[in-house]
Amino acid sequence: MTHPESELTQLEHIPTRIFGNADAACMTVADAITHLIESRNADGKPAVLGLATGSTPVRLYRELIRRHKEDGLSFANVITFNLDEYFGLPGDHPESYRKFMQDQLFDHVDLKPENTHVPDGMVHREDVFASCQAYEEAIEAAGGIDIQILGIGRTGHIGFNEPGSAPDSLTRLVTLDSLTRRDAARDFLGEENVPRHAITMGVGTILAARQVFLLAWGEGKATIMAKTVEGPQTEAIPATFLQRHEGCSFCIDESAASQLTRIRLPWLVGRIEWTPEVTRQAVLWLAQKVDKPLLRLVDEDYTENGMADLLVEQGSAYDLNIHLFNITQHTITGWPGGKPNADDSNRPERATPYPKRSLILSPEPLDDVYCLGGTINRLKKHGNEVSIAYQTSGNLAVPDVEVRRAIELMIELGEERSGQEDLDYVKTVEAQLDAKGDFGADSTEIRQLKGLIRRSEARSSARTLGLETDALHFLDLPFYEEGRYRRFVAGERDTARMRELLETIRPHQIFATGYGNDPLSVPALSFEVLRAALAACAGSDWIKDCNIWLYKGPAQEWEAHEIDMAVPLSPSELENKIQGIYQHQTQRSQSPISGDKRVNNTWDLAREINRTTAELYDAIGLAEYEAMECLKKFTFDQ
Ligand code: F6R
Repeated sequence: MTHPESELTQLEHIPTRIFGNADAACMTVADAITHLIESRNADGKPAVLGLATGSTPVRLYRELIRRHKEDGLSFANVITFNLDEYFGLPGDHPESYRKFMQDQLFDHVDLKPENTHVPDGMVHREDVFASCQAYEEAIEAAGGIDIQILGIGRTGHIGFNEPGSAPDSLTRLVTLDSLTRRDAARDFLGEENVPRHAITMGVGTILAARQVFLLAWGEGKATIMAKTVEGPQTEAIPATFLQRHEGCSFCIDESAASQLTRIRLPWLVGRIEWTPEVTRQAVLWLAQKVDKPLLRLVDEDYTENGMADLLVEQGSAYDLNIHLFNITQHTITGWPGGKPNADDSNRPERATPYPKRSLILSPEPLDDVYCLGGTINRLKKHGNEVSIAYQTSGNLAVPDVEVRRAIELMIELGEERSGQEDLDYVKTVEAQLDAKGDFGADSTEIRQLKGLIRRSEARSSARTLGLETDALHFLDLPFYEEGRYRRFVAGERDTARMRELLETIRPHQIFATGYGNDPLSVPALSFEVLRAALAACAGSDWIKDCNIWLYKGPAQEWEAHEIDMAVPLSPSELENKIQGIYQHQTQRSQSPISGDKRVNNTWDLAREINRTTAELYDAIGLAEYEAMECLKKFTFDQ
């Protein structure tokens, strides 16, 4: 029997609603905003909204625009105040928050331009104080903020109130945390381009709003979410000050909620139903908590860690230990494509058909080798027909210096050998690059060239893993080619392209990633495109015999209880994989954005993560390997 919600949420200091996905959560918040606007309209008063930028509120804004266009929701009586703006960026800069708001909301509804307020990033240094004070006064003059929308940064910032911000702080100039600047690096095409300062409403300004909704999606936010909801109030995590606000609630998706105690360790906060999944989660957690191999756990370990009722229900520690040891043992396989002519009753992948058609999906070039270099190599060595499909070109992640180098090479070669036409083309691209400046958008030609550079790296990397280059497919999904970070929209053309590939290959196994990521990220959208394409293939025979294996994504790994297949790598296999990663030269200075760890070198992290997983298996009493790559089996009713 599961105990009441209140027992499970006993450690939580802020009312937190968990939704199946971001869209469902956004509906609830859009309802509250609609209700506010309508009731204020009825009273002949303006509704005052506090707004955020970033990926998080984009779906909410899309829903508000839809309500305006389809349901006639009017914003004529709405006044808005944005949380923050980068210091030094003019309002028409592509990454300024003013521009973001115009593109994502203001230009699509009937808000009066004079009713929209975003702090001025171009104010002179000596005028900053007065300008911030004026911003506070404008909020007050409008009657105060009725509903404040917030996202949360991985530092625990709200607005740009970084760690150290006081609960009574007001609108002011602040210095951005290095983690925040790293998270913005992709938008600015390099961390060095991210402004160092911003103007932000203070924590006190936010706390003065009558109602506050904080939204969060994706597991990248899970750790900070748990600390904010369950931890003590502290300046080290400014979002914890929201615990003081009676009218504050969090609307988050399941991935962002995954580190809350009621999800991660529910047996510690209430009596729960011991399903096989929770039992596995609990026992593997226990072994790590008490730092013992599974087979050496004793009754006291269980009883002292909230699992006494599990012992009563399922027998002794001895039985549970052996059961979980066997389950974990059976996840290990050196045959990710299944072992032909072997008993497969306890193997993650089936023995037949053999050889298999194995399709690896990589949202961008590099994800494949970074997460599955060893697995791909093994699949190929064992005779399977391995294909890799790069869902997007990844051209947005190529620094300009790389494309300039390629252009110079081509010009030199062109002047010596090829025709004038080719040379003219390359010189045109060079001129576009010169004209683009530091933050300008890439022309179609520059993006194409950057995409080709990434293709060449992917080919080189695949060769390292033993693949022929004709096994590679470059889908260049339109959502990516036509969009930019935080503003992608996937549609039918993406699904059609993905579907065509699936129907051509008719895979027996698909290795994919992106499940549980921030819904506007490239991996998450690539995963949604796969989901839609598989749904479109539902009538095909091959799909009934196709296993889907999820890899977690760069800079991350599944938790022990989530792993259904663990592929061991020998020291030389690990080194070969790292060589494969090295082929992605243009990515050497990009840091993985999804992980929590601060690292300087993406490549070292791949090695470290695979080794850490192997150490974990060793610590809980299984065989000791050099490194491991892990997969989770997936079915689409999830
Ligand atoms: C944006 C803001 C920030 C973001 C936070 C999360 O105006 O004030 O606090 O809400 O950095 O960013 P995303 O939503 O991009 O993950």
